[in-house]
Amino acid sequence: MSMTTSEPGSKPTAGATLQEQARRHLWMHFTRMGEYSEEHEIPIIVCGEGCYVYDEHGKRYLDGLASLFCSQLGHGRYDLVQAGVEQAKELGYFSSWSYTHPRAIELATRIAQLAPGDLNRVFFTNSGSESVESALKLARQYHRIMGKPHKHKLIAREIAYHGTTFGALSATGVTDYRTPFEPLPPGASHVPNTNMYRYPEGRDPMELAEAVAKRIEFEGPDTVAAVIMEPVQNAGGCLLPPDGYFDRIREICDEYDVLLISDEVICSWGRLGTYFGSERIGYQPDIITTAKGITSAYAPMGAVIATDRVAEPFMQGTNTFLHGSTWGGHPVVAAIALANLDAFENEHVLEHVRENESRFRAMLDSLSELPIVGDVRGMGYFYAIELVKDKETKESFNAEESESLLRGYLSREMFERGLICRSDDRGDPVVQLSPPLIADQQQFDEIEAVLRPVLEEAGRRMRVQGH
Ligand SMILES: Cc1ncc(COP(=O)(O)O)c(C=O)c1O
Repeated sequence: MSMTTSEPGSKPTAGATLQEQARRHLWMHFTRMGEYSEEHEIPIIVCGEGCYVYDEHGKRYLDGLASLFCSQLGHGRYDLVQAGVEQAKELGYFSSWSYTHPRAIELATRIAQLAPGDLNRVFFTNSGSESVESALKLARQYHRIMGKPHKHKLIAREIAYHGTTFGALSATGVTDYRTPFEPLPPGASHVPNTNMYRYPEGRDPMELAEAVAKRIEFEGPDTVAAVIMEPVQNAGGCLLPPDGYFDRIREICDEYDVLLISDEVICSWGRLGTYFGSERIGYQPDIITTAKGITSAYAPMGAVIATDRVAEPFMQGTNTFLHGSTWGGHPVVAAIALANLDAFENEHVLEHVRENESRFRAMLDSLSELPIVGDVRGMGYFYAIELVKDKETKESFNAEESESLLRGYLSREMFERGLICRSDDRGDPVVQLSPPLIADQQQFDEIEAVLRPVLEEAGRRMRVQGH
């Protein structure tokens, strides 16, 4: 029987295939739904094991992006789910509003033990956006309690992605994501990011840090609450900070009494080879926002981790952080997060990343010989390959070329050949790799076996100099 499920007005139809149901009823995130048709299927991933996932036709893919930078331990970890099941038998749910339960307490304590310096107070959320949203509200209320009610503004970086809720979106520096929803909450502004590949030769990289001081001066120091930055900026393609950058940012924040929020939604839980990205880069944030890998993606969870200095005023008298959500610190999810952290320890996950990252890097570096590869950058298990039209001049692709390169060829071709990774042009076009933290040489070889011929062909198609 032919299905009518894709027609407007139609209700769910018995016997429709998953493809038909998805095309008709599911609203996928950040997805051009109109591009799917009977000829161009929606990828439906049905199961996974280790670094691999399988689609509805049984085809295997190497998950080169850890789903969305979050499947730290890989797929099929029944033991993590089992920890949630055991918890549900004991206590399926109780709220964090005026009550708590053992798993939230244990997880907060465990996170405080792992977090750098005096980051000792943990507020649970359900996603990265919610963590950023909560941190922004925390920064504002902190200054208000401290008698500086005008400190409400935020400084973020261009092209950085900090999430989609209105507050978090005001921090996000991607114009296309902002424009449809303007006006956004006022007060956020953006300074240049640290794309050192495109930084003018001979110019002092520390000017990038000074731009933050200048912006604070411009806005008026009495009005600025916080600076938000990722240790390694994801959007734009794994942008590393130049040496000394965060030391200077820390000094600037101290000088102007501005809180430094380290957005580690991606860069924590081993992605950079340490529990927290700020630890690897070597700076001390006032607040860390995290999510994703905290449960290795077996359940949704996020957290805001505050220093004693930031949290203490909220612990006095009747002061209250006037913020919360029903699910924050959910016991089943907290149990899964605890099991995840047990696995990190027992299976030496961080050691594995640090031992193997140079091999991963060496494989990616070997792709630099291809004319289309302008730059390879990143650290830990988090890398980007920037694609260029001309290696000598670093000329990039224009918007139309980038569309045809990334969406017209690269993404589909890599997927077709069984590799899930990300091609992205929120900044200049990049391919990003961020596999589960259990990946080793076998997966690096498989990634290369797909990437090399696909990038060669992409170079030919785009008439890149040198092909
Ligand atoms: C740095 C950063 N912050 C915030 C977010 C938003 O997280 P979520 O998608 O869980 O809301 C992301 C998501 O990728 C992120 O990379």
